[in-house]
Amino acid sequence: MIAVAPGRVNLIGEHTDYTGGFVLPMAIDRHTVVELTTGGTDVRLHSDLEAEAATVALDVAEPSAVHPQWARYVAGVVADLRPTRGGRGTVRTTLPVGAGLSSSTALVVATTMALGFTGSALELALACRRAEELASGVSSGVMDQLASTSGVAGHALLIDCTTLDISPVPLPPEVEVVVAHSGQSRRVATSAYAERRAQCEAAALQLGPLRQASTADLATLTDPVLRRRARHVLNENERVLAFAECLSAGMLADAGELMSASHASLRDDFEVSTPALDSLVERLSSTPGVYGARLTGAGFGGCVVALAAPGSPAEGWRMTAAAGATVSAGPGGRSPA
Ligand code: GLA
Repeated sequence: MIAVAPGRVNLIGEHTDYTGGFVLPMAIDRHTVVELTTGGTDVRLHSDLEAEAATVALDVAEPSAVHPQWARYVAGVVADLRPTRGGRGTVRTTLPVGAGLSSSTALVVATTMALGFTGSALELALACRRAEELASGVSSGVMDQLASTSGVAGHALLIDCTTLDISPVPLPPEVEVVVAHSGQSRRVATSAYAERRAQCEAAALQLGPLRQASTADLATLTDPVLRRRARHVLNENERVLAFAECLSAGMLADAGELMSASHASLRDDFEVSTPALDSLVERLSSTPGVYGARLTGAGFGGCVVALAAPGSPAEGWRMTAAAGATVSAGPGGRSPA
């Protein structure tokens, strides 16, 4: 089996997925490829980036305790999928690892497909989210997995994280998506992510689902930290919907302003930015041809995403919106049902 799964970049809608809000990621033209020959009682994968192979028994009990660390993601897949046959194979990737472009999700999606998963793209995304939680101990939202399994070439995906409906939004030809790395790895971010999630849940206990709360409701939150966190989520959900409309209407300057507002909110209200991310956003925002820039992904390091006019001198990788994951017995490829 040859399974190919893309990473993702999120254009807008950050820290909104796990409270049932809106997000707008796109699958990117950087992938992880898992090539696997099935058989045996364990899964053994060699990666071109890792010194040690991943060897995972089919009855692995504690994926988050497996060594080496990258093997935890393979173990998470095995623990969730419980395949009856193992396999031998290789992992290759064109994604920067630990940069916040969902390299671990791409590994999990490709491994799951290579091990014979047969459900729909949505079922695949949900299985991969569970596998990543088993591997990392972090309960994330489902944005990264849905972007990787359900990507549409040339489109960003407007995802309603309550209904899990996905509406592809075409990217206008007169715009480039630029992704620049802050140089800070975001591997340290897990405890802060869990804390932000807990704060959103605490705010929702008082307000009801944040997706339905109004700005007026925010005043009833007496804790100023919870109020700031909830304010980010409410405003960010509105920005996602406005951004999708701006993209569709070709209103790129307005879309850029929404990205800048999103970054300010992540910096000031949600407090997940860093000085390195802030200065990269500032540098990109003042580059000719750039409509707007913001941190992308969980924050605490990783990448910044910008929308720019083609040919702008903005620093960073040009990324195009790719189709979702595929699997095949050889070259070719079948998408999930
Ligand atoms: C990480 C998580 C996603 C999402 C983002 C923040 O990428 O895996 O589910 O919560 O952070 O928007």
